[in-house]
Amino acid sequence: MTAVAARAPAKVNVHLGVGPLRPDGFHELQTVYLAVSLFDTVTVGPGDGLALTVTGEGTGAARGADLVPTDRRNLVWRAAELLAGSAGVSADATIEIAKSIPAAAGLAGGSADAAAALVALDALWGTRASRDDLVALAAQLGSDVPFSLVGGVALGSGRGEQLTPVLARTRWHWVLGIAGEGLSTPAVYGELDRLRAAGRLPGGEQPPAAEPVIAALRTGQTTLLASTLANDLQAPALALRPDLARGLRAATEAGAAAALVSGSGPTVAALAGDEQDAVRLTAELAGAGVFRTVRAVHGPVPGARLVG
Ligand code: C5P
Repeated sequence: MTAVAARAPAKVNVHLGVGPLRPDGFHELQTVYLAVSLFDTVTVGPGDGLALTVTGEGTGAARGADLVPTDRRNLVWRAAELLAGSAGVSADATIEIAKSIPAAAGLAGGSADAAAALVALDALWGTRASRDDLVALAAQLGSDVPFSLVGGVALGSGRGEQLTPVLARTRWHWVLGIAGEGLSTPAVYGELDRLRAAGRLPGGEQPPAAEPVIAALRTGQTTLLASTLANDLQAPALALRPDLARGLRAATEAGAAAALVSGSGPTVAALAGDEQDAVRLTAELAGAGVFRTVRAVHGPVPGARLVG
């Protein structure tokens, strides 16, 4: 068997409503995921045991070595062990992750890698898991991994792993402002809990509903989507990283229809009117000097798929 490659997309949450902390340590969510055109590729080949290498975004000597580990701490490693265990095969593979999605950026890069690895290893090992089997394994790996497999646009409930497809008529254009330093997802959720306990942020028994943004996605109108975007993790991300406000301000001053923090941040997702507007916004935000990297993307795009 020769090498097999799969790629999986980054995501932005166009709605991220966070409910109370559950006894299992996760928060009840109502979130709308949108898969966008920034992909990591995972290439797998025959091996003896598991061997993992990582190249690309965030893996330089200056940063990232501990952000993207090459051992069991990497979600891809755990994905390989989980698939092998469930299929009754031995976990033998060389695995190369080529990253374009920055780590710890609120873009589900690690989840994308895990989803791509499940698809590629299923083909390499001939385990012939059904899509449903893979989605069930994905949910054991992390809250966002099922969405990275499925892609498109979906409503996520539970801790984010229970998915319902959402209709989106249009291709939406975004500009991602990527910061120099990542943010820890548990730290951002923890800050939200602290701010709520101190009465500095509202928090009800139920996560805020996603219906307004789902309705806006259906219309295809940028101004309507812009007015319904919401992220409960934005305030705690800003509390931990006050400089994020500059990025959000730069995006609105540059004429974005709206700007919000993507997931747990620190990436800023700026909504553009159309593709041309996204090109213009990208140039302007790159020139503003508040982000490490600025990328124009569009979505929805499909989830994890074999390539090549
Ligand atoms: O599921 P995942 O491994 O991506 O979650 C990472 C961390 O983010 C969890 O350990 C938890 O602290 C936080 N989280 C949460 N509620 C969710 C999803 C994630 O509190 N619904």
